[in-house]
Amino acid sequence: MNGNGPRGNGTPIRVALLGCGTVGGEVVRLLNEQADELAARIGAPVELAGVAVRRPHKHPELPEGLLTTDAAALIGRTDVDVVVEVIGGIEPARTLLLEALKSGKSVVTANKMLLAEDGATLAEAADASGADLYYEASVAGAIPLLRPLRESLAGDRITRVAGIVNGTTNFILSAMTASGAGYADALEEATRLGYAEADPSADVDGYDAASKAAILASLAFHTRVTAADVHCEGIRGVTAADIAAAAALDCTIKLLAICERVPGGPQGDPESVSARVYPAIIPRSHPLAAVDGAFNAVFVEAEAAGQLMFYGQGAGGAPTASAVLGDLVAVARNLVVGGRGPRESSYASLPVRPMGAVSTRYHVSLEVADRAGVLASIAGEFARKGVSIAAVRQTGGGQIPLNGESEDEARLVVVTHGAPDAALAATVEALSGLDAVRGVDSVLRVEDLGRSVSALGVPG
Ligand code: NDP
Ligand code: HSE
Repeated sequence: MNGNGPRGNGTPIRVALLGCGTVGGEVVRLLNEQADELAARIGAPVELAGVAVRRPHKHPELPEGLLTTDAAALIGRTDVDVVVEVIGGIEPARTLLLEALKSGKSVVTANKMLLAEDGATLAEAADASGADLYYEASVAGAIPLLRPLRESLAGDRITRVAGIVNGTTNFILSAMTASGAGYADALEEATRLGYAEADPSADVDGYDAASKAAILASLAFHTRVTAADVHCEGIRGVTAADIAAAAALDCTIKLLAICERVPGGPQGDPESVSARVYPAIIPRSHPLAAVDGAFNAVFVEAEAAGQLMFYGQGAGGAPTASAVLGDLVAVARNLVVGGRGPRESSYASLPVRPMGAVSTRYHVSLEVADRAGVLASIAGEFARKGVSIAAVRQTGGGQIPLNGESEDEARLVVVTHGAPDAALAATVEALSGLDAVRGVDSVLRVEDLGRSVSALGVPG
């Protein structure tokens, strides 16, 4: 146990800050600017015991006496009560936080990558010593989301958490939608404006959102879900034509993180959890469709509460520092009264459903020969794989030569009803092998998130 009984009112809470970059710099600013108010809210002043960075010369704004490059020594100091980690990445953050927790020091972290990879080890260390482990800033920046899942909704049964949790990709997709730009141009604009990093792969390949999905699913379903459990597809393959095709259906494309409780099946399949990230077509009528630019928004559905939506700034120094400070205040209050905050739990231990067994809908766009029997042969492939077609739309093309003859080419869009992802993938593979199919232009999932995709004229 950490042995923290109630502290005398007014005994300062001493904080070791690990990292002083985009987020850490704002944490320092807010701690200084709001020192008196924070002390009043907590019942004790909060003091910085030290700040660990890699390159102290880059931080002339901080008193020299506070700076160190030895983060391990800083957290080992006996005058440190709380460790705030905003370094990022797996190591050395993992080793440092485990050391802190083992010695009973409470931890506040924004490190989604570490939590999604090895949150269980951190939580076990916190449980063993009785320290707090808070990480509100790790998902959706400033938006209060994890505490509502862990505390406000603790009496309810959450069925789905789905939303836009990556600002960079939402900025890119929004720019493509607004201007008709291609992916490369939109990424260039995102980089120029400082939204995308020099190496944007963690964002555009979906890994950042997958880490967040793992954290959300773990909390919502009381089950340990890691980043490796999350099916992950990014937005590199989304084209201007995909965006236009979605717009023609009164829909738009968003990179979604979807965490769902999947009920058990009639054949005795157990209840399970699905966690997945991919670009999906959603109806424009859905509130998530209106979330533009670098903003985040998350829909939570619970049996008794119904639908809840959380919206705001998902990144940036000050918004993220707001969430870090909120956690720091919570941890400090616990220290003042001598207790521990609510812990997360993984008692349900639900299995994670493999993506192939998750039911989704598809929007498949094909270039086909426009002659008798083509539609039947395409429909036959769907039927053979047990995938029910919800709608088919054909737009005619010009004359193109085929085997020396002249033949019409057409574009066919097929929207399916829900079917196991593996069946849909097998269908697409079979379609690619058909003589009459010149090419499968795009394959996108359709997520109506509880609302029918009305422009298609098909209920989910
Ligand atoms: P930055 O890269 O801006 O800052 C990282 C800081 O960590 C720097 O001050 C750096 O030192 C320091 N650092 C790196 N390695 C070490 C080390 N070995 N020992 C001591 N200090 C070290 O990162 P961000 O502030 O952007 O992100 C921090 C965390 O917050 C990450 O986990 C990130 O995922 C998360 N986060 C960030 C958001 C954002 O909008 N930026 C939003 C939500 C979460 P130096 O300054 O000397 O280089
Ligand atoms: N790179 C992330 C984003 C930062 O674009 O949303 C917040 O985690």
